[in-house]
Amino acid sequence: VAGLNRRWTVVSHPVGMPAPSNFSFDAMPIPKLGRDEVLLKLLYISIDPGQRVYISELVGPDAIGAPVKAWAVGRVVESSSPRFAVGSYARDNLGEAGVQEYSVIGAKDLVPVDPDPSLTAHLGLLGMPGLTAYFGMIDIAGVAPGETVVVSGASGAVGSIAGQIARIKGCRAVGITRGPEKARYLVDELGFDDAIDLLECGLAAGLAEKCPEGVDVYFDNVAGPMLDDMLGHMKRGGRIAFCGAVSQYNDNAPPPGITNYFQILMRELRWQGFYVGSHAGQFAAAVDQMREWVAAGRLVQREEVTVGIERFPQTLLDVFNDRLRGKMILQVSPGEVR
Ligand SMILES: NC(=O)c1ccc[n+]([C@@H]2O[C@H](COP(=O)([O-])OP(=O)(O)OC[C@H]3O[C@@H](n4cnc5c(N)ncnc54)[C@H](OP(=O)(O)O)[C@@H]3O)[C@@H](O)[C@H]2O)c1
Repeated sequence: VAGLNRRWTVVSHPVGMPAPSNFSFDAMPIPKLGRDEVLLKLLYISIDPGQRVYISELVGPDAIGAPVKAWAVGRVVESSSPRFAVGSYARDNLGEAGVQEYSVIGAKDLVPVDPDPSLTAHLGLLGMPGLTAYFGMIDIAGVAPGETVVVSGASGAVGSIAGQIARIKGCRAVGITRGPEKARYLVDELGFDDAIDLLECGLAAGLAEKCPEGVDVYFDNVAGPMLDDMLGHMKRGGRIAFCGAVSQYNDNAPPPGITNYFQILMRELRWQGFYVGSHAGQFAAAVDQMREWVAAGRLVQREEVTVGIERFPQTLLDVFNDRLRGKMILQVSPGEVR
């Protein structure tokens, strides 16, 4: 395929909140295909707070000059792999697609997807956020029926699914969120058992009221000072699945330390970080399972789709505002969609 590939590359590491000047919108020739590779015309690009981490100084100089890292769903326009026919749809497994119109990806790092229930679902419910919730809740936290599970950042793409999986596994799911609209979303639309609205009562009071017997599992998307309150409220033998630190990504100062860490010893807690990509070998089986739950109406999620690749910088900034959004997705162009 000949033509130009418009793409957003990283010009500089952001200091604090990302700014449009951290990115450049350029056009390069559409990349050529190698052996066992696929050229995708990207249709939907996942917008995630983790993109702020991938362009940060923490990750190092490799990000500079390259397209912004992103997961995406696209249509196969050229293929040297028998697994991917031209015209079919695929999603990348490791975030290599990038914020651009076309991307060449090794067939081994792609999965075929179909428009059922929708192409965008493969970036949320059945995509990287859903898989993060699945492996965090089942493999890392090892939830068991009857346990009390607390999820922070609960209205977000990962948290909303994490709570629903805890419910499916027979647990009592309590979401931590900010604001009454999001608290209602958790309980009324997603089926959480309860919500703690940090803006209404703060975490310590919320935990005392909503989880009086203590917490077996804390699924942490937010990190920061909230962990101190959580540690003081865990049951003996409790587990903390450390998924993300979204409250810290735009801070220049090093994250504050925890002071209540003695509770980890006293209560014999396990605090384990994890990265979803390390479970890629089990993605297919997990997606099959999650598909059944979606079809049965047991897993749902709101999506917010912004149209036009030109709007990438503003869309990334939107991830950090406090609105109820569900999964954020950038539709590359107004045309061709399913
Ligand atoms: N470990 C992995 O492999 C992996 C993979 C994917 C994502 N992650 C991480 O998982 C976390 C959630 O990702 P996501 O895709 O669900 O993001 P998201 O859709 O943007 O949701 C994040 C949620 O966190 C809450 N939040 C945001 N900023 C906050 C702040 N300053 N203080 C307190 N709460 C804040 C908000 O929920 P409320 O308004 O409801 O509080 C927001 O909806 C992120 O930290 C991400 O980096 C990790």
